[in-house]
Amino acid sequence: MIHPYDMMQDIDRVLVTEEELHRRIREVGAQLAADYAGKRPIFVGILKGVVPFFAAMAQAVQIPCQWDFLSVTSFEGGTHSTGQLTFRKDIDHDIAGRHVVILEDILDSGSTLKFVKELLERRGPASVKICTMLDKPSGRTVALEADYSCFTIPGAFVVGFGLDYDDYYRNLPFVGVLKPEVYQD
Ligand code: IMP
Ligand code: MG
Repeated sequence: MIHPYDMMQDIDRVLVTEEELHRRIREVGAQLAADYAGKRPIFVGILKGVVPFFAAMAQAVQIPCQWDFLSVTSFEGGTHSTGQLTFRKDIDHDIAGRHVVILEDILDSGSTLKFVKELLERRGPASVKICTMLDKPSGRTVALEADYSCFTIPGAFVVGFGLDYDDYYRNLPFVGVLKPEVYQD
């Protein structure tokens, strides 16, 4: 496959290929469909990085479900979390009594997902589970694990398939390690 992007010169190496992503998302999607059959879950995506993963995963889970989105941010333009969370957009649905599955691009320090999970748990849902595309356990600073995880990755800064640096690279169809010289000057 040809990648006609200048962006490619900023990528050190491809960590998860497009094919691997879609194959594994179908696998985890089948697991979610089995676990949530008859439960009419509501999938809550954390914007913006989740968009490609959400789209692929939502199509891999062929059971009746609803979608919602919220937006928080844990850092602005850098490569490390500031730990300061900003809540930008709430979900639209009332989740009282509902089975909620939070979808996220990456579980790193855990502070974003902990904040979102606790926020949603206070609204009386039947359950709240976490499904992440990537898990970077070496970055963890708070005790939190995903219920569903597609790939465990080493402690490098990655971009692509929704993941950004300064809001760029989200449109790469794979997950790759960004060359450190791109963000160290
Ligand atoms: P956490 O709160 O530290 O777990 O980080 C979660 C958020 O940090 C994710 O939603 C991403 O937006 C961002 N993030 C963490 N690691 C990376 C990375 O390697 N590349 C791009 N974004 C990342
Ligand atoms: Mg982000």
